[in-house]
Amino acid sequence: MIAIVARSENGVIGLDGGLPWRCKGDLQFFKSTTMGRKIVVGRTTFEGLPPLKGRELFVLTRNPDAHFEGAIAVSDPADVPADAIVCGGAAIYNLMIPRCDQLLVTTIKKEVEGDTFFNSHWLEGFEPQQTIEETDEYLIVAYKRPV
Ligand SMILES: NC(=O)c1ccc[n+]([C@@H]2O[C@H](COP(=O)([O-])OP(=O)(O)OC[C@H]3O[C@@H](n4cnc5c(N)ncnc54)[C@H](OP(=O)(O)O)[C@@H]3O)[C@@H](O)[C@H]2O)c1
Repeated sequence: MIAIVARSENGVIGLDGGLPWRCKGDLQFFKSTTMGRKIVVGRTTFEGLPPLKGRELFVLTRNPDAHFEGAIAVSDPADVPADAIVCGGAAIYNLMIPRCDQLLVTTIKKEVEGDTFFNSHWLEGFEPQQTIEETDEYLIVAYKRPV
């Protein structure tokens, strides 16, 4: 399983249910990585997302009666397909990153205010594998668990 996350230099991943930056290059990377794939997000992240065309979306919620337009509600994390890409937020990274063998981490090269943070534990057991892209604005690194 793969997870994809973007953080600022001071570890922020979210603010008020959304992303506290605009970064076209990272959005492009997110789009090309997830296009045509299954992806899983938490209910809070889902509510802040624009429609994501071309991806099969699973939304984790503890509400067994939940229905989401254009997405499949899942209450048991064990029911998330193993080939889904884990796309956050923090609660879902906490839950699913231990099951992942690859992590794609964008660092946005600035400090921003936020209310949701990258947890350094998420990187435990991973090693940087390769730099995928670096610009003045951001750095994208792939991490893998050593075999
Ligand atoms: N920078 C990034 O890469 C990135 C990526 C994604 C999101 N974000 C940001 O992260 C923030 C949201 O993160 P968050 O941690 O507050 O929320 P979240 O992880 O998106 O969603 C939390 C919700 O997921 C459901 N959930 C959690 N654990 C569960 C479990 N064990 N079983 C079933 N459902 C479970 C619950 O939904 P119910 O309350 O419905 O039960 C919970 O309220 C937003 O600001 C968003 O923009 C950033």
